[in-house]
Amino acid sequence: MNKIGIGVIGCGTVGSGLIRNLPKANALIGERLGVQLEIKSIAVRNSAKNRDPLPITPVEDWKKVISDPAVQIVVELVGGTQDAFLIAEATLKAKKPLVTANKALLAERGQELFPLAQKSATPIYFEASVAGGIPVLKGLREGLVANQLLGLHGIINGTSNYILSRMAEAGSDFATALQQAKDLGYAEADDKLDVDGIDAAHKAAILCLLAYGFLPKFSEIPVEGIRKIESQDVGFARQLGYVIKLLAMIRPVGSDQIEVRVAPTLLPARHPMASVHGAFNAVGLIGNLSGPVQFTGRGAGPDATSSALLADLAEAAKNVSDRSPGPLLQNAARKARLISPSDSVGRFYVRIEVEDRPGVLAQVAGIFGAEKIGISSVLQPEGHGAGSVPLIFLLESALLSSLHRAVASIAKLPNTRAPATILRVEDLT
Ligand code: NAP
Ligand code: HSE
Repeated sequence: MNKIGIGVIGCGTVGSGLIRNLPKANALIGERLGVQLEIKSIAVRNSAKNRDPLPITPVEDWKKVISDPAVQIVVELVGGTQDAFLIAEATLKAKKPLVTANKALLAERGQELFPLAQKSATPIYFEASVAGGIPVLKGLREGLVANQLLGLHGIINGTSNYILSRMAEAGSDFATALQQAKDLGYAEADDKLDVDGIDAAHKAAILCLLAYGFLPKFSEIPVEGIRKIESQDVGFARQLGYVIKLLAMIRPVGSDQIEVRVAPTLLPARHPMASVHGAFNAVGLIGNLSGPVQFTGRGAGPDATSSALLADLAEAAKNVSDRSPGPLLQNAARKARLISPSDSVGRFYVRIEVEDRPGVLAQVAGIFGAEKIGISSVLQPEGHGAGSVPLIFLLESALLSSLHRAVASIAKLPNTRAPATILRVEDLT
């Protein structure tokens, strides 16, 4: 049995999960692929920190891991885009395959790293960067390679989905649900990445790369997180037959444009993704040959992430053992551009707090009409107090720029009490 040496840089939530799960997985990998993984070197930031025992004594200088001749594959589990970039760059320059779970690194600095991987003919394995334990990147890279993809959509941040599920099902408040997600190892070291939609946008950029050979400029992706969701929106959405999920959408528009966005979105309550709860993720896509495909599974947490890391390590080890170059992204340089967010067309949910007076609803509806935006449903709940009332509109398809003009005009009405809450609506079938 060929033994392949690995070096692990970073032993926090994910790294310690990998080390815990490796021995059992190694037995299966040996049986199935005829290779074994052997941890030869580990680096952490602070080796004096109290932590679960590691199989070998860690060092604090990650360069020692990469330069160790016994290390044939390097696993980066440090997070962020600074030290992680230096680690990735040094690993590729040393011509050692890199395994990483770091979506921020790939989405924000992939334009530098993927060409370096090509130049040094050294692969980057990154299944663990998207959707935890769901092998969606392998699915795109292998199982669906012959398909033209008509679009992808996904719930790809476990922490946000956990928070929204707890708010909808257990009536939890936002802060309590977030703390639970942190305790369970779902959240990023900086949890703003989760709740502000940035982590989902990192993953959406990677999915776009796999599906369309185009890594968008990260700063140009429109991103909204879940902070603005109030429990009343969850309730109104339910009355209208919808649930609210943080959804990533990736779809080609015409021949050279792609729409990539992340936003809290109303999905029909009958759609399979509406019942993806807790830290589970789901990615749906439509292939021209396969038709609709949906992947579902645990999207976050040390065990689910270990599953993807160990799959990448197994593939990398087999390739090293067979002296095969491994998967180099061949199509990472497609010329495309993101559509301008204002050109985005879609349906919207709009909640507006207005003074409870006769004629206000008609005024607001008139403004939508003047922007040629159709209204498909309106809710004006009874039992409100303090002289104000929420008006909830479910709108027909509209250009985002027209919606913004309408909402700006509504904000100027003397009877409008608070800024509108605007959420996307996707009638996925
Ligand atoms: P974490 O708990 O913050 O752990 C980071 C680890 O990196 C720690 O062990 C830290 O050392 C070490 N480290 C930091 N800077 C270092 C340096 N310069 N040299 C050596 N070691 C250094 O992070 P995590 O939650 O495990 O996340 C790791 C990666 O996995 C991130 O990219 C994250 O986005 C990704 N990820 C997370 C999940 C999940 O479910 N949580 C899922 C998929 C992907 P000390 O222990 O000494 O502080
Ligand atoms: N913080 C991420 C999430 C981890 O909650 O989805 C998985 O990538």
